[in-house]
Amino acid sequence: MHVPVLLNQVLETLDPKPGETFVDGTTDGGGHMEAIIEQMGFKGIYIAVDLDSQMLESTRQRILEKLKAVGADRMNIVWANANYRDLLEVMRKADVKKTDKLLLDLGFSSEQLVAGRGFAYRPENAAEPLDMRYSKDSGVSAAEALHSLKEDELADIFWKYGEERFSRRVAKQIVMSRERERIMTVGALTECVKRAVPRFFKKGERDTIARVFQSLRIYVNGELESLESILQDLPDIVKSGGRAGIISFHSLEDRMVKNAFKKLVDDGKAKLIAKKPIAPNEEEIVHNPRSRSSKLRAIEII
Ligand SMILES: C[S@@+](CC[C@H](N)C(=O)[O-])C[C@H]1O[C@@H](n2cnc3c(N)ncnc32)[C@H](O)[C@@H]1O
Repeated sequence: MHVPVLLNQVLETLDPKPGETFVDGTTDGGGHMEAIIEQMGFKGIYIAVDLDSQMLESTRQRILEKLKAVGADRMNIVWANANYRDLLEVMRKADVKKTDKLLLDLGFSSEQLVAGRGFAYRPENAAEPLDMRYSKDSGVSAAEALHSLKEDELADIFWKYGEERFSRRVAKQIVMSRERERIMTVGALTECVKRAVPRFFKKGERDTIARVFQSLRIYVNGELESLESILQDLPDIVKSGGRAGIISFHSLEDRMVKNAFKKLVDDGKAKLIAKKPIAPNEEEIVHNPRSRSSKLRAIEII
């Protein structure tokens, strides 16, 4: 089960209240959602968005059962299998002009990691197909991208999204390998990366593998483009006095959030809720190692 990161900090910072409208752009297994609707006293509107239709459906069933059990089955929840970059459209369809609160918890979840879509390297995942899409209905799979992109395009992806020092060597190795056989599985890509890492750097091999998988995932899902788009739309999504919180796990994403929030503050459109990003404490990191690199930034729209 996916353990929601920075949960208490999200509840404190966004301070959801009964009767409000809350938009959750990355609902997934509903870890944050469950605690938020409870804090809302099961009163108000909750718009639960996720690109992954399977995750959203299993969360819908679980939450509806919970609402029934606590006698709150009339809470207004809108389930939307959509990209959060299209939130304005989702809200328009739900007849919601602006929201009181917005949460984005970026990236993928522990449940998706074991869902067999090749999101990351683990020895037991070697035979998984390299898909990496949150939604199978959009874009091309990672295997397709590895097959069709040019060597310099691949190198740019590993450099830009993974800041990987051996980006060129990895791209070259992929092109050499795919001439013999298409790279279709987690194991095949991992072998390619291992061959590309020079002997003197073998101890850093695992990090290179992780960065290559991460950058491919970011590319395949257009993650930075979606984030850029919603950051532009924030003042149209969140009402005056409302709050937006974004949890990121990657320095590139955090930089984008930091800069967009700074611009809103400089333009007199928002104020920061905390000057510094909110990070997990030691206890959370021990209990949930996935939280290690998480950062929450939050603003209030003026
Ligand atoms: C880290 S998980 C969220 C976990 C959730 N907060 C919880 O506590 O259970 C991120 C989720 O965002 C979804 N996602 C990623 N990019 C998305 C996008 N552009 N639009 C909508 N959902 C997206 C993924 O499918 C995944 O389910």
